Amino acid sequence: MSRQLATSADQIESRRCPDGLDPSKLPGHIAVIMDGNGRWANARGLPRVMGHRAGVEALKTTLRLCNDWGIGALTAYAFSTENWSRPGEEVNFLMTLFERVLQRELNALESEQVRIRFLGDLEALPPRLQALIADATERTASNRGIHFNVCTNYGGRRELVRASRRLAERVASGELQPSQIDENALAAELYTVGERDPDLLIRTSGEQRISNFLLWQLAYAEIHVTEVCWPDFGADALLSALTDYQSRRRRFGGLDGVMPDVLGS
Ligand code: IPE
Ligand code: IPE
Ligand code: MG
Repeated sequence: MSRQLATSADQIESRRCPDGLDPSKLPGHIAVIMDGNGRWANARGLPRVMGHRAGVEALKTTLRLCNDWGIGALTAYAFSTENWSRPGEEVNFLMTLFERVLQRELNALESEQVRIRFLGDLEALPPRLQALIADATERTASNRGIHFNVCTNYGGRRELVRASRRLAERVASGELQPSQIDENALAAELYTVGERDPDLLIRTSGEQRISNFLLWQLAYAEIHVTEVCWPDFGADALLSALTDYQSRRRRFGGLDGVMPDVLGS
């Protein structure tokens, strides 16, 4: 086989996708509720925060696999607006962990062409973390690989309130007519502006709830819940989620074979 043929774009594409999966039916966007860090640690007789530390490794693995397998976007729930109610020590550990991981991983993210963004009410985060976030966002903004969105101090309800307020301000200033407010106008005021809606939501550790995550964007996502705790999530668990996803028949309220256009842009 000639060298040129061996490296054709099609072959690279199909080599990326693991055996058993249909490369034409991969989700374009995966959202993940990374749950079960504390239980993972407790089960090992470790302090809860060790679960968060182990969870970072699982996130790195998942991001690399998604990037390698050609998934367009990964949105991970790292810290909710409700997580401030945890003991101060755990919250402080998490904020410091986010800072350290960003500092340590930024070069690798840059060279792997990852475009990172942080979604949430970032102004409430420690100033040092805010500065690292701004730097990482700027340095990776023109990268052409996977879109990696980290939901930090994120709440779906807060996001919708913020979007409503921004629309109201535009109406009050005369820039927008109330009749111009439609689904596109509202979606354009969400943190996720420009990102397609998630096709697949994965939640680890068995909980069957959304916990204030992407309330608008998950309207038609397929949901995969696994008993695996987040720190144990790796290639096998991701493959299971994708296999499950590919077994679903998505109907978007219509009938098989006819696809209404409800996917956000
Ligand atoms: C998810 O794991 C991580 C965050 C919410 C920051 P948890 O810390 O919620 O772990 P469990 O659910 O208590 O096991
Ligand atoms: C959701 O997990 C938030 C994150 C994964 C960051 P939680 O552990 O906070 O959710 P609940 O409390 O079980 O609903
Ligand atoms: Mg939890």
